[in-house]
Amino acid sequence: MNGCLEVYSNGLRFENPFILASAPPTASAQLIKNAFKKGWAGAVTKTIRDEDVLNSNVSPRLSAIKDRRSVIGLENIEMISDKPIGYWLEAIADIKKEFPGKILIGSIMGAQGTESWKKIARRVMEAGADALELNFSCPNGVTAQGLGLAIGQNTKAIEVITKAVKEVCRIPVIVKLTPNVTSIAGAARGAVKGGADGICAINTISVLSGIDIETMTPLPDVDGYSTYGGLSGRCIKPIGLRCVAEIANETVVPIYEAGGISCWEDAVEYMAVGARIVQICTEVMLSGSLIIDGLKRGLAGYLERKGFASVGEICGVALNKLITHQALNRGYIVHPQIDYSKCGKCENCVEICSESGNGALYVGEEGVIADNKKCIGCSLCSFICPNGAISMIPTKLGITANMQANF
Ligand SMILES: Cc1cc2nc3c(=O)[nH]c(=O)nc-3n(C[C@H](O)[C@H](O)[C@H](O)COP(=O)(O)O)c2cc1C
Ligand code: SF4
Ligand code: SF4
Repeated sequence: MNGCLEVYSNGLRFENPFILASAPPTASAQLIKNAFKKGWAGAVTKTIRDEDVLNSNVSPRLSAIKDRRSVIGLENIEMISDKPIGYWLEAIADIKKEFPGKILIGSIMGAQGTESWKKIARRVMEAGADALELNFSCPNGVTAQGLGLAIGQNTKAIEVITKAVKEVCRIPVIVKLTPNVTSIAGAARGAVKGGADGICAINTISVLSGIDIETMTPLPDVDGYSTYGGLSGRCIKPIGLRCVAEIANETVVPIYEAGGISCWEDAVEYMAVGARIVQICTEVMLSGSLIIDGLKRGLAGYLERKGFASVGEICGVALNKLITHQALNRGYIVHPQIDYSKCGKCENCVEICSESGNGALYVGEEGVIADNKKCIGCSLCSFICPNGAISMIPTKLGITANMQANF
């Protein structure tokens, strides 16, 4: 079943495209080994720091973002690995000995200046890591030392450190970028200029997840105080997709995506905009590493159903459909079609359309009726119907017009 899931990237063979992102589920050798036994193709270690990087964690370090029913994201203020580099050097050798066919990527962070980065890169490579991931994107704690996100926001620094690491490395060097920049494509170009073999995007997004309105304390509440943290999980997927698409449009190196994947369909979307390998963290933290079974089964079934011979065939196929806003066809409009077997005449859509659409819906005998002459085709009604009774049907106006033609 899984033959078609195999992916090659930077000369490395991944038995499937799913790997664990650098995070709590990869915080020790035992956790990584357990995940490998369950079927993950690879893992990125929790970021390993050079001795000179200061690191001291706090508690609590997580805060949940919820919709009415479930957790849709996590804010974390966790720092990089607590474990000393000596632990990780032994762990990498040990994991690779037991699982030679799995891909182990060492996530690393050096102290300021290139020498520290070169030193840790060499040590992690010599321990047996298959590739390195340079953490230029952690938003927590290390920025005060000019590290993590502080490097990722400086294109020249990205280029210089990547180049220095490449000078001492024989294994692929992946650069992990932060979305907390104006142009992530510009940051990716800096990494590629420095010789990066791959790009990982995205790390978490800087946020303040909430305020406890009883105590007026920002969250997570660390003894009455808090700080800004990094957002991950389902709610960041649209930002991750945009970042990956922008990077894929500007570079040719493989993209190791991370950002809000909770099911195989999300992975396919990321692949469609250029991701080669997908990394997952938050969904594993919330649902457990056994989700790998459903991810592999779902993706294999999709490939078979759609007639794709391999995962590689999906990579980037949606990119040429991303065009400028001006170039979108102004001669195309969608109108609601009501499924009367589902419509319960609750009138939600009528009210919503009258307030935020164009007053195009009214209740008739069978159910809701749309006046297409008034309908502006915004599609809002189709999202709020509790019974899923509204679908939007396209109407071509017979002309193909873009904004230049209309104005
Ligand atoms: C609690 C927590 C700790 C993390 N620690 C690291 C880290 O040490 N190094 C790193 O590169 N990314 C770290 N990340 C970021 C993840 O690797 C990943 O880029 C991000 O969470 C987006 O993916 P997701 O939405 O699947 O979680 C951490 C994320 C979380 C939630
Ligand atoms: S929201 Fe749905 S169920 Fe309610 S009136 Fe509109 S179409 Fe019918
Ligand atoms: S698409 Fe927009 S304007 Fe048209 S009926 Fe629905 S809410 Fe109203």
